[in-house]
Amino acid sequence: MEDLHALEERMLAQIADAGDLPALEQARVAALGKRSPLTQAMKGLGGLDVDARKEAGVRLNRIKRRLGDAVEARRGALERAALDERLATERVDVTLPPRPEGEGAVHPVGQVLDELIAILADMGFRVADGPDIEDDFHNFTALNIPPEHPARQMHDTFYFRADEAGERMLLRTHTSPVQIRHMQAEPPPHRIIAPGRTYRCDYDMTHTPMFHQIEGLVIDESTHMGHLKGCLIDLARAFFEVDDLPVRFRPSYFPFTEPSAEMDIGCSREGGGLRIGHGADWMEILGCGMVHPKVLEIVGLDPARYQGFAFGIGVERPAMLKYGIPDLRSFFDADLRWLRHYGFAPFDVPSLAAGLSA
Ligand code: DAH
Repeated sequence: MEDLHALEERMLAQIADAGDLPALEQARVAALGKRSPLTQAMKGLGGLDVDARKEAGVRLNRIKRRLGDAVEARRGALERAALDERLATERVDVTLPPRPEGEGAVHPVGQVLDELIAILADMGFRVADGPDIEDDFHNFTALNIPPEHPARQMHDTFYFRADEAGERMLLRTHTSPVQIRHMQAEPPPHRIIAPGRTYRCDYDMTHTPMFHQIEGLVIDESTHMGHLKGCLIDLARAFFEVDDLPVRFRPSYFPFTEPSAEMDIGCSREGGGLRIGHGADWMEILGCGMVHPKVLEIVGLDPARYQGFAFGIGVERPAMLKYGIPDLRSFFDADLRWLRHYGFAPFDVPSLAAGLSA
């Protein structure tokens, strides 16, 4: 066996000479690795008699510890030196111009939702929420749309596979089920809006399979159709920022309201362009009506005592009209160039006080 003392000296010198971390790792393997003379010597201890084994074992372990300590000490020194070197050579040049950072933009749907919500919140509406995945009861039956009702076909519903009981969940086709959920959860009076996503199996110039609506619901003991008209006329004028925007209500039909109406705003299509305001034409922007007595009964309210109105307004169409966006489908193409062009500055969110006084 090589003289242990000489071995130790040789290994210590190698460790001390290591100029960088890879060299130190090599020295460590040579000194303490599986095939190092030290490890081999330790393996050979079994062949010695008891006294000799004890003595040699103590010596070998002491050498092993010293070599290990030396490796760690050298590692610390090398790391410190590397850091000193970086501190000495690398400098931050504070006079350099900053690198440009990509700025995010608010999607027009988000912006218009914020604007509509701000106006409605200003009138005293509270925001309520409901699930995108609905059951048949809340999306249809409770809204006075029984199973055989033709309105179901008109909705082009996305259904999930039926469960063992035959019940099919669906993607809500409108935000109206939130009316039901809210009236079931809380006692009247109600004054809520429910903004959110809605889904229908439809795709062309003016339809996308996912779109947004804001539902509105007011229920108490005295709210009447005059309130409905005042509220929605103010909403349209505040949103489009046209004080004398012409507005008309056309009789219509929805199963969950009686009477039902659609609201149009005045516009002009002269010369191919579309302009909101005074003109020869009308454009539909929302559906509304007095909540049907059957809907009130289904949620346990007495229609002889409670009444009120509801409305449902799409978000994309008003966004296209107000901000001159020609194609609905482009909203959901996730094209950054489009978003940079039509997007809004993140902090340009309307304040609640803006509402009608803006
Ligand atoms: N849920 C209707 C739809 O998506 C819109 C609507 C019409 C909602 C009249 C209402 C309402 O609350 O009163 O076509």
